Amino acid sequence: SAAPDITAHLLAWFDRHGRHDLPWQHPRTPYRVWLSEIMLQQTQVSVVAGYFERFVAALPDLPALARAPQDEVLALWSGLGYYARARHLHTAAKLCLERHGGELPHDLDALIALPGIGRSTAGAILAQAWGDPAPILDGNVKRVLCRVFGIEGWPGQPVVEKRLWAIAESLLPPTRLADWTQAQMDFGATLCTRANPACALCPLQDVCVARRDGRIADLPAPKPG
Ligand code: ADE
Ligand code: SF4
Repeated sequence: SAAPDITAHLLAWFDRHGRHDLPWQHPRTPYRVWLSEIMLQQTQVSVVAGYFERFVAALPDLPALARAPQDEVLALWSGLGYYARARHLHTAAKLCLERHGGELPHDLDALIALPGIGRSTAGAILAQAWGDPAPILDGNVKRVLCRVFGIEGWPGQPVVEKRLWAIAESLLPPTRLADWTQAQMDFGATLCTRANPACALCPLQDVCVARRDGRIADLPAPKPG
């Protein structure tokens, strides 16, 4: 399989072109990783950075967030949009105080049981906060995998999504899981973009099925109907 090569090429690309100075990377604590991933679910990195810094300055750890009044949490979120994210974040912090001794649980199922955390966000947290071999599969990663591996069908379809999770799992490197997670995000956001992927600069150009077959505009397949 070409999987180890793909992983190694993407990590080497990340070393040169990825984002290494994001505020939640220094220091990379579970609370800061979690907060950043929730903010990044629907908002781009350049916008999130400033909000993140203000938020952690006011509420530096999970117990502080759990004990803050909802008004304060929503005020710190004000401008980021999708306010359900802030309410879920606050509820999840209170649940962590009740269930997990005031810490984010280091466990996939316990993370997914918290409001606002789906399987991909849980994977991103496990990999970045603890270096666990946990895959992610957000919209960017789905697009990249559909292209590189020539996966047909709409990625929102359960049978396609299942296949993509299996591929994401198969690509996990033995070390550098936090970097691997960020590498995939950065690659999808800045190089293998939806409209104009920079194939001529791509470290995967020789293995990418979509490029080989001239199908970049067709993959991933759109939602039917
Ligand atoms: N989207 C979700 N998580 C992200 C991250 N860590 N970096 C960039 N975009 C993201
Ligand atoms: Fe994406 Fe193009 Fe690279 Fe394929 S060759 S992974 S389509 S940027």
